[in-house]
Amino acid sequence: MLLSRIPSYFKARRDRLMKSHSGAVFIFPSNQELIRNSDVTFPFRQESNFYYLSGFDEPESVLVLAPNHSSPGAYRTILFVRRRDLTKEMWEGERYGVDGARQVFGADESYLIEDFQKVLPDLLDGAERVYYRIGQNKDSDHKIVTALDGYRASAGRTGRPLLAIFDPGEALAEMRLFKQPEEVDALRKAAKITALAHKTAMQEVRPGMNEFEIEALIDYVFRKNGCQRVGYGTIVAGGVNGTCLHYRFNNQPLKDGELLLVDAGGEYDYYSADITRTFPIGKAFTPAQAKVYDLVLRAEKEAIAMTKPGITLPEIHKHCAEVITDGLLSLGLLTGNRADLLANNGVSRFFPHRTSHFMGMDVHDVGLYVKNGEPRRLEPGMVFTIEPGFYVQPSDTAVPAEYQGIGIRIEDDVLVTAAGCENLTIDAPKERADIEALKR
Ligand code: GLY
Ligand code: MN
Ligand code: MN
Repeated sequence: MLLSRIPSYFKARRDRLMKSHSGAVFIFPSNQELIRNSDVTFPFRQESNFYYLSGFDEPESVLVLAPNHSSPGAYRTILFVRRRDLTKEMWEGERYGVDGARQVFGADESYLIEDFQKVLPDLLDGAERVYYRIGQNKDSDHKIVTALDGYRASAGRTGRPLLAIFDPGEALAEMRLFKQPEEVDALRKAAKITALAHKTAMQEVRPGMNEFEIEALIDYVFRKNGCQRVGYGTIVAGGVNGTCLHYRFNNQPLKDGELLLVDAGGEYDYYSADITRTFPIGKAFTPAQAKVYDLVLRAEKEAIAMTKPGITLPEIHKHCAEVITDGLLSLGLLTGNRADLLANNGVSRFFPHRTSHFMGMDVHDVGLYVKNGEPRRLEPGMVFTIEPGFYVQPSDTAVPAEYQGIGIRIEDDVLVTAAGCENLTIDAPKERADIEALKR
């Protein structure tokens, strides 16, 4: 079923971008459909910047934002789209076509994609700069380089300046880093559905099930509640598999007495959640599991509590590393001098990754982590994860037996607010007592 008119915020985003880049031409090719074999394709998802600015989710399309020379300071939105084709649509589903591009997506002009190369020189005419990411789409790279070549060849006769190409990534990243209300709504929805999926997994897991059963259950909760797809490959890792940070096999039987680490996030209207929970496959945590679980949980909760405008992600990570170092020293899992361990990142033996990444349309979202050479200070509207962990690698046999093979990560998604932060994924249980109660 096709849409009749997309929300006005897509145009508001283009307005904001072009207000700060007047005179520029931006060119965004869509993602391409990837062939799996013969006429079977991998599931299609639109390129995030393209979707962020257009709301248009068909492949073989190009979005161009170009100056409107008849109205100084104004710009035009141009969409190149696939031709309507009743035979193709019978097989593959409806298309919007050039009329839909204008009527539904608010393009000022629209053309067939096959005319892109022919129309492009006109769109570049009179531009001051071109923003285009080279290397992402070889086919459009060739067309754009050819158009710029033609432009250069005629520069002497026309007196036009040569056009330089800039990467649009930073401008878009800066916009996407600060979530607008409609983006927070989508993230909230993704977070709520994802929290429900994790809670359901906690309730349903039993010794003897396979990891893939839990993956299927999580997928079902995502799709049943309106997520279109996963934001990244779901990790369902029983026991020692939880020590593999990006475990993907999800095909092993689940054993009583071991923990299950689930890292899964549903994508809702192009925004992804990213939650990890770790819980017993059987009824309760063992004493050793409980000790290290509580340590990771303490680090995670304190990190959330310290999140507010003005602090930095490295400060949050440093705090988590300190809490976990101190805890492991008192459990005897780390030995030696505290100051040396902190200075040499000794905790990385058990906590080898960073605590946070930005999130949004992409689970590892765009946004500069360093600005003017300094770690970026948090500001309201930023959304990121807090995800400390503790993992005993299978090769690490020096650790007491009761801790061997344990992998724990606890991950929530937070929105920075004026006063501090809001935990978007608070509905996913993480207190040991709450998890164990769910299983009774
Ligand atoms: N799910 C990937 C991550 O937590 O970063
Ligand atoms: Mn994450
Ligand atoms: Mn994750």
